[in-house]
Amino acid sequence: MKGIILAGGTGSRLHPATLATSKQLLPVFDKPMVYYPLSTLLLAGIRDILLVSTPVDLPRFQALLGTGEDLGISLSYQEQKEPKGIAEVFTLAEKFIDNSPIALILGDNLLYGDGLHSILGQVSSLASEKEGAFIFGYRMQDPSRYGVVDLTKDGLVIAVEEKPIKPLSPYAIPGIYFYDAHATSYAKMLQPSKRGELEITDLHQMYLQKKKLFCQVLPKGFAWLDAGTPSALLEASFFVKTMQERQGLQIGCIEEIAYEKGYITVDALKDRARKYNNSYGKYLFSLV
Ligand code: TTP
Repeated sequence: MKGIILAGGTGSRLHPATLATSKQLLPVFDKPMVYYPLSTLLLAGIRDILLVSTPVDLPRFQALLGTGEDLGISLSYQEQKEPKGIAEVFTLAEKFIDNSPIALILGDNLLYGDGLHSILGQVSSLASEKEGAFIFGYRMQDPSRYGVVDLTKDGLVIAVEEKPIKPLSPYAIPGIYFYDAHATSYAKMLQPSKRGELEITDLHQMYLQKKKLFCQVLPKGFAWLDAGTPSALLEASFFVKTMQERQGLQIGCIEEIAYEKGYITVDALKDRARKYNNSYGKYLFSLV
């Protein structure tokens, strides 16, 4: 399974904060936002990762994350010239995907919760072995600002709807999706929507029509945050700060996950820790 982080877009809801920088490079408390979706892919066991962003921002991501070698992973980079929609990634990254199963995560999404590791692992295996697309459902008091999913008890999706006025279910769809090897060929059939974008919801509709769209509801107590507005960004920062300071554990710590997963050695972890003369470095040393 390979993975893609979508870190382009315009970030217009965060203007002027994002006029001269990428949203996904802004800090969520103590780390760049992109660390959180990257750590989610690492947790899922995905080590071959493509980051997609704008021509202006892509070099900044490269400067931040490099080749991934010091995390024991492979990171590559792809320009998206204009934000023509999330589903455009399948044509942009056709070579990278190379007809293999693929996980897609939005660069402004943060997932946190007990058991995330095993849930992601299970879904990733399913998408590798079984035909279909696999999405998640997240219970919300008011999911109407998001894509919403209705499903059977067995996790077969009955309907997906985009920003419904009257949602069919309380389950919003977080920005992480797993696809079988057919996604690229389906995505090529998509037409731009009224707003001129290739919509990921339309790809999901294609899987739904084939009865191949599956959904796993995230358990109680999980956190799913997106940091796309000034308030959401602040709330995400406070969430990370509160959890980290109360528990003494990091959220979105890519070095910790790489080490625990066995992608890097103790020495490599120490090398990374030495780069930081602050509490982040101390935390990395404490893992040794
Ligand atoms: P959005 O939050 O829908 O769009 P945006 O980031 O441009 O923000 P705004 O609505 O405030 O203008 O995008 C969700 C994620 O997908 C985000 O991480 C950016 C990414 N994205 C791309 O990489 N390419 C695209 O063409 C689009 C539409 C989004």
